[in-house]
Amino acid sequence: MSHFCSPLRYPGGKNCIFPFVSKLFYENKLLGATYAEPYAGGAGLALRLLFEEYVEQIYINDLDRSIYAFWSSILGNADAFCSWIEDVDVSMESWCRYKEVQNRAESADLFELAKSTFFLNRTNVSGVIKGGVIGGYNQKGRYKIDARFKKPDLIARIQRIEQFRKRISVSNLDGLAFVKKMDARAEEIFIYLDPPYFQKGADLYMNFYSKSDHEKLSKHVHKMKKKWMVSYDNHDFILNLYASEKKVRYKLSQSASNRVGDEVLIFSENIAFAGSLESLTSPVCL
Ligand SMILES: C[S@@+](CC[C@H](N)C(=O)[O-])C[C@H]1O[C@@H](n2cnc3c(N)ncnc32)[C@H](O)[C@@H]1O
Repeated sequence: MSHFCSPLRYPGGKNCIFPFVSKLFYENKLLGATYAEPYAGGAGLALRLLFEEYVEQIYINDLDRSIYAFWSSILGNADAFCSWIEDVDVSMESWCRYKEVQNRAESADLFELAKSTFFLNRTNVSGVIKGGVIGGYNQKGRYKIDARFKKPDLIARIQRIEQFRKRISVSNLDGLAFVKKMDARAEEIFIYLDPPYFQKGADLYMNFYSKSDHEKLSKHVHKMKKKWMVSYDNHDFILNLYASEKKVRYKLSQSASNRVGDEVLIFSENIAFAGSLESLTSPVCL
């Protein structure tokens, strides 16, 4: 089975830090804990931790209703979703129809919105929902609209998620509200926060963060009781917000089209990570 667990392609997706995070779970005796992601997006890392039994339960949250629609629909009705994938015509005609659904994302029927999100994610350049279609509108490019729409593989990914559905909870809250909820729970929860990028967020996601949103988040993160890790693009503004925390800069190895440069990981004081660093590319402790 492929290491790509998520059916979604995600700009800035963190599937690739699985080797590091899985070691971190050993280093901090977190095996079997609950795992929560307030800004889950494609949730590739969360799913792999679950499938490989590092965690017992995952809570994935995203404020973007289109993303939430996808997760809640495949968890609630995987069979219908897979039948639709089998039948859907991957053409520009369908693309135009599904693009229109995103214009009314706040009111559209959730299942319809889920189909639209998935279709655009798999047919747009780099999976960016509001971006352009692979091959261009006139389909003159080298790659065509269906280049990333391999139906059997995508159906298999959804069926695998369906097998774990009792251990996956999905929500559509603001990240801060979600974090407060998780932090108040009694059980051991590792919270991984991957908020919208500081620099590129507005281009990539439907919801992005202003400077004051990043500030507000950092103020709250500093008060959290649970073990946590935050990731960001490497920028002085962010480093200053987390000036007193332990941090590592590393290179996020992604495909050329998604490349976003150096990233930083920031840790709560009760997390040890020295023994896991070898799994990151070019790590530098800050
Ligand atoms: C950097 S991406 C997360 C990528 C994810 N870690 C992955 O591996 O696919 C940030 C996500 O935060 C979501 N988001 C933006 N503002 C939010 C908010 N206020 N609350 C919760 N999620 C938000 C975006 O929709 C986007 O999916």
